[in-house]
This record gives sequence, structure tokens and C-alpha cells, in this order.
Amino acid sequence: MTRSVDLAIIGSGVVGSAYINQLKNLKGAIKFNVIYLARSSKEALYSKDYQPVDLSNYKTAKAEPILSLDDLVNYLKNANKPVILVDNTSNESIANYYPNFIKNGISIATPNKKAFSSNLKIWKEIWDSESQANSGIVYHESTVGAGLPIIGPLKDLVLTGDKIDKIEGIFSGTLSYIFNEFSTIEKNDIKFSDIVKKAKDLGYTEPDPRDDLNGLDVARKVTILARISGLEVESPTSFPVESLIPKQLESVESSAEFLEKLPEFDNEIQKIKDEAFNNQQVLRFIGEVDLKNNKASVGIGKYSFDHPFASLKGSDNVVSIKSERYPNPLIIQGAGAGAEVTAHGVLADTVKIAERIAN
Ligand SMILES: NC(=O)c1ccc[n+]([C@@H]2O[C@H](COP(=O)([O-])OP(=O)(O)OC[C@H]3O[C@@H](n4cnc5c(N)ncnc54)[C@H](OP(=O)(O)O)[C@@H]3O)[C@@H](O)[C@H]2O)c1
Repeated sequence: MTRSVDLAIIGSGVVGSAYINQLKNLKGAIKFNVIYLARSSKEALYSKDYQPVDLSNYKTAKAEPILSLDDLVNYLKNANKPVILVDNTSNESIANYYPNFIKNGISIATPNKKAFSSNLKIWKEIWDSESQANSGIVYHESTVGAGLPIIGPLKDLVLTGDKIDKIEGIFSGTLSYIFNEFSTIEKNDIKFSDIVKKAKDLGYTEPDPRDDLNGLDVARKVTILARISGLEVESPTSFPVESLIPKQLESVESSAEFLEKLPEFDNEIQKIKDEAFNNQQVLRFIGEVDLKNNKASVGIGKYSFDHPFASLKGSDNVVSIKSERYPNPLIIQGAGAGAEVTAHGVLADTVKIAERIAN
């Protein structure tokens, strides 16, 4: 008999839509029945008798108001098959609710960083609930480096007794692009403000580029990697995070005004770039977890021209993991953002969970 699982998918934005498309074309032995699909924060497709949602017309099919999270747990825990909740949002309330899903036997696959990088209490609650018998299983590979295999390999190292010394990486596609263009091994006269504007025009930044430049997204990823490696970081604001937003521009109202005034502050970062260049170094915006000294940090780092981080291209992410077993660091590099790669990471997690729970 074919093994199957039920899926509840929340969100059909950039990643959610790509996920649904990849799911439609999935080949494999396990059957996936989508029994709930919240296509937005308002509307969902589902039926009281758990009939599979037709994915061929989910964008236009007649929908119902979404279920509250309490009602969703009740709906899912009475399903006929084991259930995987796929959270393709960045919603904090859904993230805070993970322990309730898990305790009720519902597994989770998600690229949503919030639950894993906010306060330590929720992190502990998730893994405590997950370790109980009959609880749901949690996979979140795409919360760091999108679809790149970072969390899985790191967890495997820790689980099998390796000792992590240091994790260092470029974890923001946007800041990777900005620094790869701004600070190169060939001399250039590109201004920081110009490259920020170009990144915004290309659609690489958040609608307000300050949401990339404040370093918080990188801090969330560093928090996740630190916790997996055994450093109990309290929150993404509990360690030093360098913001690239000049103090004077933190409170200007619009992103247009911010971009207009940014050139006034080019000199400061230009000086750092020139000094580095004279020492045969480039600047990169990095996150670091130093397990030897129990420290985490986010900010500008300087790397010599022959370092792997110096030759990074486009908006790639890269992570270097140095451990007792890998004194020559393990380096993982590739696209760290984008709908297809992120969705593939979430779908691969969904399949891994299904292989463990399908019946
Ligand atoms: N895009 C990437 O390259 C990338 C890479 C790595 C990780 N991620 C992560 O992937 C997640 C999704 O990103 P995205 O780019 O796809 O975002 P997005 O385009 O903004 O999509 C989010 C979707 O979630 C829905 N949603 C929000 N709150 C909801 C709720 N309470 N109930 C039901 N639906 C809700 C939104 O509906 P409304 O339109 O009604 O709000 C929208 O459909 C985020 O956690 C992000 O950090 C993205």
C-alpha cells in the first residue's frame, strides 16, 4: 500500500508559490495530501472532511476565512494521517505557536526564522516538545542560507560528537552583493551609496534597504547557528551587531529620503575600504560564532585577497565551519536566497519528515 501524509501549507507568497509548484511535480513513493492551504493571511482552502485541496487552481478556487491557530491545531490533530505543517510565512505568531503544534503530534517544515532566533525560551520549548514521544518533528534547513545544506550538516557534526570551534559566513544575499561589488580585489571607485541604490533597483533589498543594512537578519541566522553549536545566545540583539545605517539616518521617515542622504556618509566606509585595499584585503559583511571564546558577532570583516570569501560572486552565501574534525574548515557556498532554492530546501525537509512519519 502507498504510504501517505497530510500537509497543511501556510502562505503562498514568493517561497510558498514556488513550494506548491515543486510539490505538484514531486516524484517519489510517498503521497502528499494537502488538507489545508492558507493562500494568504485572510483566506484558506480546506474542507471539514479532509478532502485534498486541488493544487491546479488554488489561486482562484473559492476559499474560506483562515482558521485561528487554536482551530487549526484541532483540525489537524483529527486528520486521518500524520500531518506536516509547512509554514512559508515570516509570521511571529505562527512561529510562537510551534510548540502547540509539536505537542499535538504535528510536524513542521519551515524557512521562517522567527521561532528559532527570537528568545531562547521558545527555542528550548520547541526542542523539548520535539523530544517527547508521539510529538511532531521539526526541520528548518532554509532558515539559514536558503536551500544550502548548512543546518543539516552542522547538526550531524554536533550530534556525532564533533566540537565546533568557529563558524564564519556571509549570510545575507543582499549584503553579499553589495560588498562583492563595493570592495573588490581590483581597484574600483564605486561608492557605497551607489551600490545600495543599484541593489534596491535590482529588487535585491527589502522595500526599505535599512531592513538589510541594520544587520538583524544576519544576527537571526547567527543566533540559530550558535544555538545549534551549543552557544546559548539569548536573542539576536544580545550580542554585538554592527549596523550599516548611519546614526543620523536611522530615524528618517522614508526609504527614498534615506537613499537621498546616504551619499553624505560615503566617506566613512570608503576610508575603511581603502585601508583594507592597501593591506591587500576586501571588506565583507559577516556573521561569526566563536565557540572557543563563547562569543557571537555580526559586522564588517576584512579578508585577504586569496581568502575564499574575497572571491565570492553575485549574491552568494558562504559559510566556513571549523571544528575538531575539520581543522581545515568545511566550506559551503552557493545561492543563499531566491524562491526556487528556498522552496527546494523546505520541500526536501518535508520529504525527510514524511519518510519518518508516513503510514
Ligand atoms: N524569499 C527568499 O529568498 C527567502 C529566502 C530564505 C528564507 N525565506 C523565508 O521564507 C519565508 C517566506 O518568504 P517570502 O519571500 O515567500 O515572503 P512573502 O512573499 O511575503 O510571502 C508570505 C506569505 O505568507 C502569508 N501570510 C503571512 N501571515 C500569514 C498568516 N498569519 N496566515 C496565513 N498566511 C500568512 C502572506 O499572505 P499576505 O499576502 O496576506 O500577507 C504571503 O502569502 C520567510 O520566513 C522568509 O524569511 C525567504
